[in-house]
Amino acid sequence: MNPAPNLVLVGPMGSGKSSIGRRLAERFGLAFLDADREIEAQAGASIATIFECAGEADFRAREQAVLATLLAGEGTVIATGGGAVVDPRTRRLLRERGFVVHLHIDVPRQLQRLARDRTRPLLAADDREQVLRRLAETRDPLYAEVADLRFDTASMNANDTVARLGHLL
Ligand code: S3P
Repeated sequence: MNPAPNLVLVGPMGSGKSSIGRRLAERFGLAFLDADREIEAQAGASIATIFECAGEADFRAREQAVLATLLAGEGTVIATGGGAVVDPRTRRLLRERGFVVHLHIDVPRQLQRLARDRTRPLLAADDREQVLRRLAETRDPLYAEVADLRFDTASMNANDTVARLGHLL
C-alpha cells in the first residue's frame, strides 16, 4: 500500500464511503473511523440535530476539527462526509496525511441509494436531484484536487468494489 499514513475515502453522499471503508479496513487489518460518527459522538447529537440547532457552519467547524484529529493519527481507514473537501485546511491535510480514494457515483444512482434516507439534512429539500447535481458541480473538482485515485463504483456492490480496490491499493 502507498506509504501515506492513512487511507481516506472521499466522495458524495451515497457513494459507499462508510461500508466500503469498513470492509477495506478489515481486509488490510487496519482500524476504521467514520468522521460523521465521530462528530456525533463528540457532540452527543445526530448530524440532523446539529444542523437544525446550530446550523451548517457549526457542523463544518466540527467536521474540520474531527478530521484534523483523525488525520493526525496513522494506520487508519477514514470515511469522510461528502462535504469534508469544501474546507481548504481539510484538503491540505488530506493530501498530506492520506492516500485518498475518491468514490464516484452518478446522480441517478445516488438518488436510488438515498431514496429512503431521512438522516441527511441537505436532502431534506423536495428537489433532491437538483441538490445533488449542484453539489456535484461544486465538489467534483475538489474531490479531484485531493484524490490519489478515482474509483467509479458504477453498478458494483460493496463487496466487488472492495475486491477491486484491494488489488489497486
Ligand atoms: C454531507 C454529507 C453527509 C454528512 C452531512 C453533510 C454533505 O455525509 O456529513 O449530512 O455535505 O455532503 P455522507 O457523505 O456520509 O452522507
